Amino acid sequence: MGIDFRDEKNKSSYMGREVDPSWLATIRELVDPTGKTVLDLGCGGGVYSRAWVTLGAKQVIGMDFSPVMLDAAAEYCRGIDQLQFYQGDATAIPWPEQSVDIVFARALVHHLADTRPFVAEAYRVLKPGGVIIVQDRTHADVDIPGSAEHIRGFFFESFPRLLDVEMKRRPQGELIIAQAREAGFSSLRQLTLWETRKIYASSSELADELRSRKGRSILHELDDHEVDQLARDVQSKLPEQGAITEKDRWTIWCGERT
Ligand SMILES: C[S@@+](CC[C@H](N)C(=O)[O-])C[C@H]1O[C@@H](n2cnc3c(N)ncnc32)[C@H](O)[C@@H]1O
Repeated sequence: MGIDFRDEKNKSSYMGREVDPSWLATIRELVDPTGKTVLDLGCGGGVYSRAWVTLGAKQVIGMDFSPVMLDAAAEYCRGIDQLQFYQGDATAIPWPEQSVDIVFARALVHHLADTRPFVAEAYRVLKPGGVIIVQDRTHADVDIPGSAEHIRGFFFESFPRLLDVEMKRRPQGELIIAQAREAGFSSLRQLTLWETRKIYASSSELADELRSRKGRSILHELDDHEVDQLARDVQSKLPEQGAITEKDRWTIWCGERT
């Protein structure tokens, strides 16, 4: 069973992190958000909604279908005037047409049974000249061996059934590009980002964090005993001494509304 985003016990799953400087630098290369309105779809705990304010956006609308996630986001972003959170479905966006400058969706599309309505809705709400930025992992991003940097690869070595789950839900890069083109987007680009998730003082700190980790929906496929087994497996494959910098490989798609 995957993560239930509406369950109160998962409230803290996507909140409280600081975004990695590599993400900020990549976004700055794609778009200048200064003075712009950003719609962050599937905003979760608001980590990236808040980062758009850091990048200079005039207004950021965080939207999610889960009231529990929206509560977490409101808590995490309390006191930031440029930010508002609303409940809404990314495949039927309750927002007027041609009203926002940037639509952003990180780690959303692999939760959608069909990505086409989301892409069409993003086109509808964007002003002409507006920009869509979608971030998720493709099959190619997932299927990378485990290493001291790519910890996630070890998950699939220990529990191959997790790879089946990932391959079924993760999008193919070409599909998103094709759907964006079909919706009317132009200047389409696809790029790769290695985003640092976290730096751990040691492999044992990482193993402890894995045991408590809720922020990776794939680990919700495992029971407590299996998560403990995974933590031990991962620790055994890493050097005992020294810091571990855990990174995830992402694909970013970007296009312009004509
Ligand atoms: C993996 S989390 C990502 C959260 C955040 N974007 C981040 O990167 O930290 C996915 C989020 O998408 C939301 N979500 C899933 N399907 C949705 C839909 N159809 N419409 C709106 N939100 C959705 C979930 O509630 C969850 O908060």
